[in-house]
Amino acid sequence: MPLFESFKVNSPHVTYNKDSIISDYVYRNSEASIVDDKVTITPKETNYTFKTQTTVPKLGVMIVGLGGNNGSTVVAGCIANREGITWRTKEGVQTPNYFGSVTQASTVHVATNPATGEDIHVPLKNMVPMVDPNEIVWGGWDISAHNLAQAMERAQVLDYDLQRQVAPYMKDITPLPGIYLPDFIAANQSDRANNLIHGTKQEMVDKLRKDIREFKEKNKVDKVIVLWSANTERFVDIIAGLNDTAENMLASLARNEEEISPSNLYAIASILEGVPYINGSPQNTFTPGIIELATRHNVFIGGDDFKSGQTKIKSVLVDFLISAGLKVSSIVSYNHLGNNDGKNLSAPKQFRSKEISKSNVVDDMVASNSILYQPNEHPDHCVVIKYVPYVGDSKRALDEYISEIFMGGHNTIAMHNTCEDSLLASPIIIDLVILTEVMSRITYKTEGSQEFLNFHPVLSILSYLCKAPLVVPDTPVINAFFKQRACIDNVLRACVGLAPENNMRLEYSTLGPQNFKKGKM
Ligand SMILES: NC(=O)c1ccc[n+]([C@@H]2O[C@H](COP(=O)([O-])OP(=O)(O)OC[C@H]3O[C@@H](n4cnc5c(N)ncnc54)[C@H](O)[C@@H]3O)[C@@H](O)[C@H]2O)c1
Repeated sequence: MPLFESFKVNSPHVTYNKDSIISDYVYRNSEASIVDDKVTITPKETNYTFKTQTTVPKLGVMIVGLGGNNGSTVVAGCIANREGITWRTKEGVQTPNYFGSVTQASTVHVATNPATGEDIHVPLKNMVPMVDPNEIVWGGWDISAHNLAQAMERAQVLDYDLQRQVAPYMKDITPLPGIYLPDFIAANQSDRANNLIHGTKQEMVDKLRKDIREFKEKNKVDKVIVLWSANTERFVDIIAGLNDTAENMLASLARNEEEISPSNLYAIASILEGVPYINGSPQNTFTPGIIELATRHNVFIGGDDFKSGQTKIKSVLVDFLISAGLKVSSIVSYNHLGNNDGKNLSAPKQFRSKEISKSNVVDDMVASNSILYQPNEHPDHCVVIKYVPYVGDSKRALDEYISEIFMGGHNTIAMHNTCEDSLLASPIIIDLVILTEVMSRITYKTEGSQEFLNFHPVLSILSYLCKAPLVVPDTPVINAFFKQRACIDNVLRACVGLAPENNMRLEYSTLGPQNFKKGKM
């Protein structure tokens, strides 16, 4: 199938300006009203104008946990791509790629060619102009003082011959001191905590804000995004008067309250600097107070927890099973891993954060099918994580899904999934920051309004990349994988005036003005 690098849409509803694309778009959805147990559905149309700024900025990304396995791997991977570094393994010469990144390595079907009947695809990254990951300036914080060459060696993720060649580019990237509050991550992390910010929590936030400003200035970047890829923290308690509103959150910070986690501090600092903050770990950084703070300051936040391996498969498989009318009744997910993430998760409170994040992933799919499930009925769902140092970053995920099928039968699917953890997470980090940046250039207005507005500060479009998607308060969480992917594609399609992909293919199956190979039907 032909792949075209770029395209232009020929439509009276789409205008290409020097520095923007304007698309007049009709959004179609349906509203239900329920009276006396009877539902009436009314199709609705809303006119939107989307404006996408097409000038791509120079982007800086600051990773919290820069010296970790993910941090060092994503930076090394981007440098290897940028520099065109090839390396040898026992399988021969390897070339760098961005496999696993939905923006860099996947395509979108945009049209059919009636002359040939062929489908036309374009790279997702070219739907609208996006930042090139080779051009991202990386920086950030770590509680461990290793420079990135040392951190990459400690991580034991990349092949030696690649490490050897990338190290000269990595050795001068040294993480800024980070915030270490031993109450929030596992005690077994204390031996790497040698690069620390000290002071009151307010002073720590002030220091982080200064770090962000200096990074921006020093690297002459137009925009910065902060992304948490540090160790999983325990959950913070949500307490009225402490972290339930933006005001209480800031007042608690000023009082140096105990129950404010390091990730809360990084998030507050980023929001106050007007810099988007993404959470790649499961903890509940986004307290109601922090969500309100982001909303007030109109700063994007997104998360939680990179969806890289076992949960990604779960959000595909359970979607498939339940939408095929099979009643998934038992899901048992076992993992073992041997990297520092696994070591941290071997502590009960940090494991609990991960367990919560992994547990709710089937809820929306179960709730969507009341033929199979009674109200409040859920499959048994058990998640186990064990720390086995020998397997290092090569996590093993073993899953068993048992479904009830026709006439009392059972279907059991058992799978073994070897997930090279940081090689799966790194492209997700790239996608999270690239999509967040794009969303900051897309504005909209609805009929009658004068002003172009940003999307809601809670970036639910990132759900595809997250195990426990953060969504706009009081709106549905979507975990189903293909719906999440369709959301990204369709928002980008709307920006260039293309209808959502409907897969009806009427041009092939009916006689109509646009049918394929006229006269042949
Ligand atoms: N496939 C994946 O790798 C995957 C998937 C989902 C979520 N995650 C989450 O991503 C996170 C990172 O994973 P990893 O494998 O890179 O872990 P890692 O332990 O190798 O790296 C984490 C880094 O964070 C640093 N750190 C800890 N607390 C810090 C703080 N407060 N400030 C600054 N630095 C701090 C540590 O020193 C370490 O270098 C983990 O929480 C993990 O659960 C990973």
